[in-house]
Amino acid sequence: MDHFLYRNGQLHAEDVPLSEIAAQVGTPFYCYSSATLLRHFHLFDDALSGMDHLVCFAVKSNSNQAILKLLADQGAGMDVVSGGEYARARAAGVPGERIVFSGVGKTRAEMEAALTGGIRQFNVESEPEMQALSEVASSLGVSAPIAIRINPDVDAKTHAKISTGKSENKFGIPISRAREVYALAASLPGIEVVGIDVHIGSQLTDLEPFRAAYQKVAELTEQLRAEGHQITRLDLGGGLGIPYTRSNEAPPLPHDYGVMVKETVGHLGCEIEIEPGRLISGNAGIMVTKVIYVKSGEGRDFLIVDGAMNDLVRPSMYEAHHDIVPLREPNPGVEQQPYDIVGPVCESGDTFAKQRDMPPLVAGDLMAFRSAGAYGAVMASEYNTRPLIPEVLVQGDQFAVIRARPSYEDIIARDIVPDWA
Ligand code: LLP
Repeated sequence: MDHFLYRNGQLHAEDVPLSEIAAQVGTPFYCYSSATLLRHFHLFDDALSGMDHLVCFAVKSNSNQAILKLLADQGAGMDVVSGGEYARARAAGVPGERIVFSGVGKTRAEMEAALTGGIRQFNVESEPEMQALSEVASSLGVSAPIAIRINPDVDAKTHAKISTGKSENKFGIPISRAREVYALAASLPGIEVVGIDVHIGSQLTDLEPFRAAYQKVAELTEQLRAEGHQITRLDLGGGLGIPYTRSNEAPPLPHDYGVMVKETVGHLGCEIEIEPGRLISGNAGIMVTKVIYVKSGEGRDFLIVDGAMNDLVRPSMYEAHHDIVPLREPNPGVEQQPYDIVGPVCESGDTFAKQRDMPPLVAGDLMAFRSAGAYGAVMASEYNTRPLIPEVLVQGDQFAVIRARPSYEDIIARDIVPDWA
């Protein structure tokens, strides 16, 4: 459920008509609903109730500081994957003890910044990374709390580009080698083992791959404990999928996920961390665009809109489907017609949807791409020197621009032309 609904014939974000925001900030723009974000966070938080736990929002899905602050104020932790995300989370006021640092390629500079600024744990993905972390921590006179990300070799049954838990993926340490790597961790002076980490992929629409992975984590926990390691925390990753279409999709709910977590690892007495991104932010955001032209092609009509692949890359990158709806509610029974919906970027890949049934639209009409709150704004670029589009946050009947659209001057001023050029 989200808070983007038609009221009085107009699509609203909570209590604000989106056309009003469009009139003030121009199109295209992203718009997020606070109530939806918080609702999704609390679904997870409640699903794990009864267990000591921390829901760490995956900052990569939406890293605007206003969003991070909103969630952190409700007690959320953060999962970061770069020095930049760490700095954003800290700038948004998230205490270091609620930040976990994931990712396969943390640099020594990133490690040092997190150790100095405060960190809950590093999720370590290789032996060389662990050696480097031990050296950095020792040089600062501290020890680094770590979980080792194990690769359980399960098939997440999701898009190949976002599947991470198979042995051929670059992520984690093969579970078959976990015990020797934990033994190495115990021998390193700057490392303090606190737990095990696993993340098998994103947009999972079935609980069984999670169950298979978490059962392996439970077995490993018992083995490692028998070998003398302190395993007090399990980070179970993110990845629970969302419905991208309103009609036929019904991925498992956070509540069912929570039940499965309790069944698989509940008996171990560990503190549980999870790292959901998409389920919290995905359906809490939309991208609003305007039709620039309606172009009649050979046997098809194109809606050329002012949003493009640089603003929302998911359709061209993953063939992802986003529901697209007009801001003006179509009259009941209106006859739909198929359109190819494309942006102005000079690539055929700049196509959002082919032969999508829509009510008849004309130039100037506004449309919303739904489910764009996760991996939307954060994956945008300035390709074709198109300014990053603004982000707007709604709460009840108020809204605020939480990232402004840069001007052409702002963009151009970043280039440095050397004297000799
Ligand atoms: N934890 C780790 C270690 C991750 O790598 C990810 C996502 C998450 C948590 C959050 O997963 P989520 O709950 O959001 O599924 N750009 C792609 C998705 C990439 C996901 C990468 N890792 C997309 O637009 O579908």
